[in-house]
Amino acid sequence: MFQYKNNELYLEDVCINDIVKKYESPCYIYSKKMIEDNINKLKEVFEDINIVFAFAAKVEGNLSILKILSDNGFGCDIVSVGELKRYMKVGGDTSKVMFSGVSKSEYEIEFAINHNIHMFNIESIPEAKRINSIAKSLGKNVKCAIRVNPDVESSTIDKITTGKRGNKFGISVDAIKENIDLLKGLENIRIEALAMHIGSQILKAEPFYEAIKVMSELKEHLTNIGFNIDTIDLGGGIGIQYDKSKDAFDFDTYKQKVIPLLKSMDVKFILEPGRFITGNASALIMKIEYIKKEWDKTFLLTNAGMNDYIRVAMYDAYNDILPIIKHDGQMIVDIVGPICESSDYFAKDRMISTVTEGDFLVLLDAGGYGASMSSNYNTRELIEQILVDGDSHRLIRKKQSFDSIIENELSCL
Ligand SMILES: Cc1ncc(COP(=O)(O)O)c(C=O)c1O
Repeated sequence: MFQYKNNELYLEDVCINDIVKKYESPCYIYSKKMIEDNINKLKEVFEDINIVFAFAAKVEGNLSILKILSDNGFGCDIVSVGELKRYMKVGGDTSKVMFSGVSKSEYEIEFAINHNIHMFNIESIPEAKRINSIAKSLGKNVKCAIRVNPDVESSTIDKITTGKRGNKFGISVDAIKENIDLLKGLENIRIEALAMHIGSQILKAEPFYEAIKVMSELKEHLTNIGFNIDTIDLGGGIGIQYDKSKDAFDFDTYKQKVIPLLKSMDVKFILEPGRFITGNASALIMKIEYIKKEWDKTFLLTNAGMNDYIRVAMYDAYNDILPIIKHDGQMIVDIVGPICESSDYFAKDRMISTVTEGDFLVLLDAGGYGASMSSNYNTRELIEQILVDGDSHRLIRKKQSFDSIIENELSCL
């Protein structure tokens, strides 16, 4: 969707050079068409499956983006009441909300029950007891899934693996079996589902296949001892092609192996995609403030920092970076931000086409855990977000003000 026309970078039919003249950089820019294309891709892969898609709001929580998803029939996977409130603000259907997360507070559980979410994905036995007792005090009976930790290798970055022994997420099959009488005895929760989420940015189908086999066997076991498991929540995890020289997600194997396995199971499914929906549909636009040459290095010092996009600093992630106007020639550079941390960089020893001070760069594939993980570190305001639709564009988040950063700090005068 990003492409050069006469050496100028476009998103859909909008020239990025026009964007930087109208809006303030750094800023995030999103393509409505790419989000919709990604939605349609998933709909095509799962066309024969009884499935509800629930967008993982942690990945990108902007109201205008959530609205696009809710308009396309998506429910929502939440990990906080804040995310539930966002989804409700855009008129999202709470009966399609799944509440995951390992440390849900009493307030959050009560709020979610009172707003009739579809189910809680229970991540520990104490949490099951807490949800049961809050449901009891409210005179309610609530649907729950046990989030299973299937102990599979998901071949992704260690920090985003969530379905392996030793991770804090989910309950092991052994612990579920050991605690089954206790779970059965909780009268105000109905265990009618199993959930998994084995990690993020997974590019192979096999880890999903292995994990779903574990879920299938556990479902049989629970059915045999009297549970009525009618739903399996497959979580998220489908990865995107950050590095275009490497393979994209292996949908062919997914269709050959995983889809038939799903078809063989007599349940409804939920999928909680996040990164796959918005990841490649957004980019971070930044300006080169200075070019500094030191030792054998050329540093492009940009106005975006790790507080705006933290994935490179946090996970050593890779993102393609393009100039918005392509000039002749190439240079090898480190692209770094203004934050006072050596980990504040976006690329090291990267070959890009020649740029000069004042030029703009676009960091691609920034729409997954990009704006949503940004912070005020170094007292920097959260930046603008812009949505492109065909040849039009509009602001979907204003730049935060300094006053709003400090508004909750009490007077020291
Ligand atoms: C429970 C749950 N579901 C879905 C997701 C979305 O994952 P992804 O963005 O990899 O699709 C996450 C992300 O960590 C998650 O924790």
